Amino acid sequence: MSFCVEQVRADFPVLSREVNGQPLAYLDSAASAQRPNAVIDAEAEFYRHGYAAVHRGIHTLSAEATARMENVRVAAARFLNAGSADEIVFVRGTTEGINLVANSWGNAHVKAGDNIIISEMEHHANIVPWQMLCERVGAELRVIGLNQDGTLQTEQLNALLDERTRLLAVTQVSNVLGTENPVQEMIATARLAGAKVLIDGAQAVMHHPVDVQALDCDFYVFSSHKLYGPTGIGVLWARAEILDEMPPWEGGGSMIATVSLTEGTTYAPAPGRFEAGTPNTGGIIGFGAALEYVGGLGLNNIDEYEASVMRYALNALQAVPDLTLYGPQERRGVIAFNLGKHHAYDVGSFLDNYGIAVRTGHHCAMPLMAFYGVPAMCRASLAMYNTEAEVDRLVAGLIRIHRLLG
Ligand SMILES: Cc1ncc(COP(=O)(O)O)c(C=O)c1O
Repeated sequence: MSFCVEQVRADFPVLSREVNGQPLAYLDSAASAQRPNAVIDAEAEFYRHGYAAVHRGIHTLSAEATARMENVRVAAARFLNAGSADEIVFVRGTTEGINLVANSWGNAHVKAGDNIIISEMEHHANIVPWQMLCERVGAELRVIGLNQDGTLQTEQLNALLDERTRLLAVTQVSNVLGTENPVQEMIATARLAGAKVLIDGAQAVMHHPVDVQALDCDFYVFSSHKLYGPTGIGVLWARAEILDEMPPWEGGGSMIATVSLTEGTTYAPAPGRFEAGTPNTGGIIGFGAALEYVGGLGLNNIDEYEASVMRYALNALQAVPDLTLYGPQERRGVIAFNLGKHHAYDVGSFLDNYGIAVRTGHHCAMPLMAFYGVPAMCRASLAMYNTEAEVDRLVAGLIRIHRLLG
């Protein structure tokens, strides 16, 4: 395996800092990952030497910036194995991508009496836009339930699907449980019933390669900031024939063909039609650098390394008394837990004192918290730069907290 974690760590300047007098153990990458020098430098270099408004300029800097931005679109298409760069819409992130689909495709295709299927493990970003759409048009939201071990009751899908199902919207990997859902089979089942499928890839793209053509879904969304790139930029991929007939959502500059006060407005073809206003060009350039960085390491190598640290962690955590782990043994990226009856915030604060950063709270998955009957959980993320030594510190920290708090 050509993956050296120490070399990777050296690329991330923040990982060498101290927190509360201890070396930082950053176990919060599922919320937002850190950035390598390649991303930081690419964005800074763009602002130092190459920045200009894109698209509308005839001058050199504008033409260069436009070309660089469009090259990132091509790289994003390659990253997902999309059929064409025209299927890549730049959005602010997963949340905006899903809202775009709900407001554009959803308003046009989901009618009163139709239904949309989601799952009980979804992030609020893949729940609330569908609730809002259903409320707007009088459609029904149906939910695939969870098993106690954190897997989906996928056998429910067939019973939930009917001729009025317009969409299945499901996460590929749970942000709380780490469950990798069998999306390939779920997509095939939903398509057989005539429904479209949106996959929330926010917690998947950093862990293994994704091929949207092989998945055969209709929409795929993810955020750059969880993939070691900048915040404020992400991708909505949609099948060309769907995107081409979707109406615009936001109006403004860059998304039009012609505007007339007497004749009305005609719109640009996709993806421009969905990118109103001045784009986050710096973010797009940084995102391109992140794609290059991850591609250079190889997602299969990253996957293999992360899987070995995950196995180590699940085993090592067994030494912690009174620890409740949530989610299946086979999982990606995250370990959610509670220590005894202690509130996750208390445990998280103690860990922070030891320089260990974990996320605490409902993780934007309140229905999932309700399923397990808890208000909050702690969540340790394992990204490609995390080590077994950091896992050991987490385990030692939790044992210490258990001793202190009882
Ligand atoms: C599974 C999942 N979906 C959607 C989102 C929302 O992503 P963003 O806040 O980048 O739009 C997240 C973020 O945590 C997530 O984990």
